[in-house]
Parts: sequence; structure tokens; C-alpha cells
Amino acid sequence: MTINDPRYLKKFQYRDPGNLNSRITIHMLFSTGRQDWAGFVFDQINPKAGELLLELGCGHAAQWQINLRRLPAGVGLVLSDLSIGMIWEARKMLTAPKAVQFLSQEAQSLAFPDQAFDAVIANHMLYHVPVPARAIEEAARVLKPGGRFLAATNGARHMAELDILLREFEPRFEAETAMSRPFSLENGRGQIEPFFERVELIPYASDLWVTDAELLADYVFSTPTGQIWFCKDQICDMAAFFQRKIDRDGGIFIHKSTGIFRAEGPKR
Ligand SMILES: C[S@@+](CC[C@H](N)C(=O)[O-])C[C@H]1O[C@@H](n2cnc3c(N)ncnc32)[C@H](O)[C@@H]1O
Repeated sequence: MTINDPRYLKKFQYRDPGNLNSRITIHMLFSTGRQDWAGFVFDQINPKAGELLLELGCGHAAQWQINLRRLPAGVGLVLSDLSIGMIWEARKMLTAPKAVQFLSQEAQSLAFPDQAFDAVIANHMLYHVPVPARAIEEAARVLKPGGRFLAATNGARHMAELDILLREFEPRFEAETAMSRPFSLENGRGQIEPFFERVELIPYASDLWVTDAELLADYVFSTPTGQIWFCKDQICDMAAFFQRKIDRDGGIFIHKSTGIFRAEGPKR
């Protein structure tokens, strides 16, 4: 099982939205930042009336369930994902889909003509792509001159406190390299720069203060690392372990390291 093996991603991790929902729930309920993630992403996309947007690896379109109503008039949105299960769920979840198209697409080989879109979004997905540079090159190809590319990811220390807790729970636990390692806040700029004139990193200021032990255990069991290290029958013990920390301290602090690369001017 690897985090950029398309077969594992399609058949197991993202066969349906269950795993992703467990993770999104923690961030939606317990983030300390002033702005919610969906609003932050929307501000960076900054869509204008009449534009055509493409999202790669949209999942079940969790952000669009909030952001769709914020779109200016006449914006067209194409939502794509490797997993048909995710696309199916996205289609079910979005209530006003008249200007939205849903497609199963591998990000490394897009079935769109050159210069078709005003913005391409890759939100927490490039680290799953076998060769991220291929997907970035494809994004540049399908963008109009002056078009923008938004790529969200995490940094190497993202949620490091959770790994420390898991080691206390299970001393043999070793966090594998951070999930974002193939495309992270630390190495993402260098991967985008060959394909775009300008790249800037916009950090997202927020941490987690988690007060629900069961939801945090669900989070752990949703991740590829958690699924390797722990068996399902440990989930109650893990939740009890987290609960003791919450009873003692009032909550569990976990720092986040997240942001969006905003790139403009696709190179030809
Ligand atoms: C962490 S989820 C993020 C989903 C969504 N962007 C969000 O932020 O809620 C990653 C998504 O990328 C998709 N994905 C993984 N590899 C892909 C690839 N090579 N091409 C297109 N989508 C891919 C997965 O199926 C999954 O839905």
C-alpha cells in the first residue's frame, strides 16, 4: 500500500468518502483559525464572472458544498477525480449542479484541449499522483495564457503532535514519512516553477484543539498509516487513551502546517 498507488487509492482509500470524511470532520469541528478552510481556498481561487474552473482530485467536493453558492454568475466548474466512487458522491451531494460537470480523470493525462480553463485547482491531491510534475505540466497546458494554478498541501510537521501521542499509545509505532512528502509545502514550489512564471505560497493560519476522543481515533483509522499500524479492535482503547488526555488538559493541541501555492502564467 502506498499513498501514490492509484489502485490502492481507487479501490480502498478513496473508494468512497468515508476515510476522507473522518479527516475533514476533525478539521471542520476543531480548527482554531479565524477563517474556515473552504473560505480560504475560495479566496485564493478568486473566481470571476464567466470563468471556467477545473478541479483535479476533487474528492466528494466537500469544499464546493459550501463554496458553490459563492461563485459569481456564469462561472463553469468541472470537477474531476481518479475515483468514480468520489465523483458519484460529489454529484449526489451538490444541490445546484447546473453549471457543474463531473468527470473521472487521471490528473497526469487530462482529456481537455490546450488553453481551456481560467483556473486549475489541486487541493490536497498532488502528493497522491505518481509523478506530480506530470499533473502540474498538464494543468499548465490546459490553462489559458495568464491562467492560475492553485495547489494546496501540507508541510512535513503537519499534525506532528498526533504522531507523538500515537507513539505513547503504541511504543512500536513509527510515523512513516508525512503523507504530503511527494508534494509538500517544503518542496512544492520547486516542482511548480518549471511550468509557471510566478509562484507564491499562501500559508493557512490554523491549528487544532480537539475535544472529541472518538472522532480523533476515527481520524487515525482513516489514514493509510493508521490502517497499517492498528487493528480495528484497538479503536476503543485508542479513544480511551485520547479521552484521558482530554480529561486532564481540556483538549488535545495539534498544530497544522497547511497552505496553497498560487501560480500564474503557464509557461509554453
Ligand atoms: C485527500 S483527497 C482530497 C479531496 C478534495 N480535493 C478535498 O480537498 O476535499 C485526494 C483526492 O485525490 C484523488 N486522486 C488521487 N490520485 C489522483 C490522480 N492521480 N488523479 C486524479 N485524482 C486523484 C483521490 O481519489 C481523492 O479523492
